[in-house]
Amino acid sequence: MLSREASVKELLAETAARATRYGTKINDRRVAPLPEDVARLDALVGPLPEYPCDPAEVLALLDDIGSPATVATTGGRYFGFVIGGTLPAALAANWLAGAWDQNAAMQVMSPVAARLEEVVQAWTLELLGLPRNSGVGFVTCTTMANFSALAAARSAVLARSGWNVEEDGLFEAPPVRVVVGEEVHVSVLKALSMLGLGRSRVVTVPADEQGRMRADALPPLDEHTIVCIQAGNVNTGAFDPAKEICARAQAAGAWVHVDGAFGLWGAVSPKYAPLLDGVGDADSWAIDCHKWMNVPYDSGLVVVREAEHLGRALAAGNAAYLAQSSAREPWQFTPDSSRRARGIELWAAMRSLARTGIREMIERNCRQAKLFADRLRAAGFAVLNDVVLNQVLVSFGSPDQTRRVITEVQADGTCWCGGTQWRGQTAMRISVSSWATSDEDVERSAAAMVRIAKSVISSRP
Ligand SMILES: Cc1ncc(COP(=O)(O)O)c(C=O)c1O
Repeated sequence: MLSREASVKELLAETAARATRYGTKINDRRVAPLPEDVARLDALVGPLPEYPCDPAEVLALLDDIGSPATVATTGGRYFGFVIGGTLPAALAANWLAGAWDQNAAMQVMSPVAARLEEVVQAWTLELLGLPRNSGVGFVTCTTMANFSALAAARSAVLARSGWNVEEDGLFEAPPVRVVVGEEVHVSVLKALSMLGLGRSRVVTVPADEQGRMRADALPPLDEHTIVCIQAGNVNTGAFDPAKEICARAQAAGAWVHVDGAFGLWGAVSPKYAPLLDGVGDADSWAIDCHKWMNVPYDSGLVVVREAEHLGRALAAGNAAYLAQSSAREPWQFTPDSSRRARGIELWAAMRSLARTGIREMIERNCRQAKLFADRLRAAGFAVLNDVVLNQVLVSFGSPDQTRRVITEVQADGTCWCGGTQWRGQTAMRISVSSWATSDEDVERSAAAMVRIAKSVISSRP
């Protein structure tokens, strides 16, 4: 019988070997799993066993059955939704952080997690040109970043009417008006619904043909208004005109929140920064890190210019055993208390790529989006958006033809793209968001799309 130490060592070595095999073979496999591999997941189902077994057996079962049923989102040819891969340094840090098993809630629980959050906070604010004294919370995703930022906004605008929403709730509270663009992301509406502000009570401003909120159509604003703008439309990649909107909002005392899930990362490049002109004048921002920063799930950042609004909105009550300190306490900036230390991977990703590497990754993906558009246009297909960032929308003819091409692209396995509706047209969405995507991946994927589209079109008169 192996000692406990020896068996843990063997198990972790075996895990590393299996994970390495998965990671290094990812570009040789199909992107979507085969239906028969998904069907084999039945082998993981069943009643809870009565007796323990060897962890090595559990690992083998998970890898043998689970790995083939994954989607190769961490490879170079996944272009669905907006999904990044995992940078090598971030994955390595994730493994080590898993071994550390730190609770990132408080300084006293994990000095390393707390310190790395402070470092990442400073790096991110500087990199994205956001106010250096902002409050920053390390949340799970942009949905939670939108939620947290809008909780801070709700608190601040109600406080202006002398209303304490944290203590007194929303019953009989003074009205808060929320303005969104016609192309607002559903996660903002979800956040508003969770905050008691309602998805349907919003004032919706029309958008132009690229999905940008029309600043000339903004309603009158006041200090009880929250304006939600977008940096990076999920379909087109377009940016709302932040400069004009922030100037109008500031003059009226309104709060501006920016959903910058992936688009805010454009600020790292002098080529794309002009698209974000004025974004830094807002009051709060939601940023995703598992998308374009290419760290493992789940990772997002909420940033609020005046940190006290975020702290007030997310403060827990006092409990004697939860010692407070005068230092930055991570849990005061997130809806969660206990949580994993996701800042560790972000630190590793940023430390390894550094400023030039992050810029190169963003610029490469944007160039690759243009390459996709060029190849598809050259084959005779219509690109429906101005390719300003990393998103491409393409139509393959009639809605039915486009839907069939999407289904067959997914089944073919060379790459993976999803579908959408854009201004009444059915389109395939291509989002280039992975550090792992090479130009060869783009050429191979574009060739597969063209081959499949031609065959779909020729199969029907
Ligand atoms: C603009 C925008 N906002 C919010 C989200 C939601 O992000 P998450 O899934 O991380 O909550 C997305 C996702 O693609 C997005 O593109």
